[in-house]
Amino acid sequence: MSIQLGDIAPDFRASTTEGEISFYDWIGDAWVVLFSHPKDFTPVCTTELGEVARLKEDFLRRNVKVIGLSVDDLESHEAWGSDIRDATGQVVNFPMIADPDRAVAELYDMIHPNSSTTTTVRSVFVIDPTRRVRLTITYPASTGRNFAEILRTIDSLQLTDQYQVSTPVNWQNGDDVIVAPAVSDEEAKMLFPKGFRTIKPYLRTTPQPDI
Ligand code: BEZ
Repeated sequence: MSIQLGDIAPDFRASTTEGEISFYDWIGDAWVVLFSHPKDFTPVCTTELGEVARLKEDFLRRNVKVIGLSVDDLESHEAWGSDIRDATGQVVNFPMIADPDRAVAELYDMIHPNSSTTTTVRSVFVIDPTRRVRLTITYPASTGRNFAEILRTIDSLQLTDQYQVSTPVNWQNGDDVIVAPAVSDEEAKMLFPKGFRTIKPYLRTTPQPDI
């Protein structure tokens, strides 16, 4: 069965470009983006890994560790690093899991046989510090991911963990947010001192509370 939102992310041991890891130990008290790509030395994947390296500081600022995976071996991942640097100007600054026996890919259901029997799809798992899976995304091999969108969803998850709010369509950090329907108007006055606007009784907005 596939991994669903709210599930505890399975632990594993793996070889990575930064050494052997035990996943839970490696997570520590951080959030994690675990993502798979189909194959080393392929064009879309090369652009994606360069972009993830470029965004390193943006992930760190949110207490997020990033880790990649494909079913290629360690030697391949290491050799590909210099191509990624040549092509994108970025040095890969996060570990890449080598999973030639597909142990992790199968644990996380990253091989979708009706798409490809030999390679992983573009899976993304956002895992919180309690090891719960908070976001899953699956993209096809032919479509590079938008990692700015993954940062946006992490901003939303971290904000909505802290306050009784949710984030509307196309929300960006700094935009108004939605007051949780379970919060009464009386409570909202106390919880959101900047005030709130009632568009419908179930749709009230308030300035982002942490800024
Ligand atoms: C790519 O990264 O360009 C790619 C990888 C596998 C299949 C198709 C495209």
